Amino acid sequence: MSELQIPAIQGLAGRRCVVTGGAGFIGSTLVRLLLKSGASVVVYDNLATGSTANLDCEAEAGARPEFLWGDVRDREKLARVLRGGDTLFHLACLGVRHSIHSPFENEDVNGRGALTVLAAARSAGARRVVHVSSSEVYGTAQSVPMREDHPTDPHTVYGASKLAGECFARAFHRCYGLSVVVVRPFNAYGPRSHFEGDSGEVLPRFVLRALTGRSLVVFGDGTQTRDLTHVYDTATAIACAAVAENVEGRTFNVGSGAELSINALADTVRTAVGRPDLPVEHVEPRPGDVLRLLADSTEAMHQLGFRPSVLPAEGVADLVQRFRAIPPPQLEDLAARMVVKNWA
Ligand SMILES: NC(=O)c1ccc[n+]([C@@H]2O[C@H](COP(=O)([O-])OP(=O)(O)OC[C@H]3O[C@@H](n4cnc5c(N)ncnc54)[C@H](O)[C@@H]3O)[C@@H](O)[C@H]2O)c1
Repeated sequence: MSELQIPAIQGLAGRRCVVTGGAGFIGSTLVRLLLKSGASVVVYDNLATGSTANLDCEAEAGARPEFLWGDVRDREKLARVLRGGDTLFHLACLGVRHSIHSPFENEDVNGRGALTVLAAARSAGARRVVHVSSSEVYGTAQSVPMREDHPTDPHTVYGASKLAGECFARAFHRCYGLSVVVVRPFNAYGPRSHFEGDSGEVLPRFVLRALTGRSLVVFGDGTQTRDLTHVYDTATAIACAAVAENVEGRTFNVGSGAELSINALADTVRTAVGRPDLPVEHVEPRPGDVLRLLADSTEAMHQLGFRPSVLPAEGVADLVQRFRAIPPPQLEDLAARMVVKNWA
């Protein structure tokens, strides 16, 4: 169906990889990439926002991961899952809009959950932990492009809890010598991205609304910008962080380096679905929304071998094509059930 292909990378064949949050959006792409690269994969996820349907990947990846239901705050269960020599990718999280209505639970999973995973990885004797953080740790850009030494000043409990998680990860490297690499993805998009509930992201929500003839709803004036990165590129960088040498304890931005305003994104989607006539509706801003994000991923390029490869027009066209494959009555039903202010 799609012309975009999940890549495979060198150096992972034969490894046992455990992916927390592997049933989610980025995790399920990473799982495919790891399987295609010859690794065996265990997904550890409590399905809070993920789905086992995301793991139906035999046709695409040539194999399936093992799925284990579990919570990242459950240290005993993690101890039963992890083995010495494993490569652990920690992606499990609760999202930014979830943190607005449920800050304590959000911090518990993103902060304490990360600490628990790190402690379990250390006890098990993990070979490498790739800790997936977020560009939300920065808050809005004070200067662009944003390097890893840009000040961290999160706007939300989500951003703050992701910052706590990555601080724990670096501390485990410094204090206990755990082989940790921290990755800070900027906004990812692509197959299996969320449109539903408080996980719903702007791009799939625009596509779903546009394909069903609805106005595109923009929170605020739409001049806020994002560095939208295709999830195949994000997952590649995360996987590369597991095999790169001499990077323990380091932190890497992962972004496309292209800045797009939400208004421009609305135009891109209207063009891609062939509905330039659809109105764009501006409503009140989302609490804690950052105004500007643009990554400088030079370090990831030099140290991890990361190269963003999917152009926004290509990635958006691919996403539109995937939504078009959904039968129209089902598409209409999904759009009708989508809540506009999905953080309330
Ligand atoms: N999507 C983005 O644009 C983006 C950008 C920057 C960083 N990130 C980071 O990437 C990672 C993956 O994000 P995503 O967009 O794929 O989110 P997602 O919500 O699709 O995936 C998160 C996964 O974690 C699982 N999970 C939640 N709570 C859990 C718990 N207590 N125990 C076990 N599993 C649990 C969910 O069921 C889900 O499968 C997260 O760490 C996130 O902070 C995402």
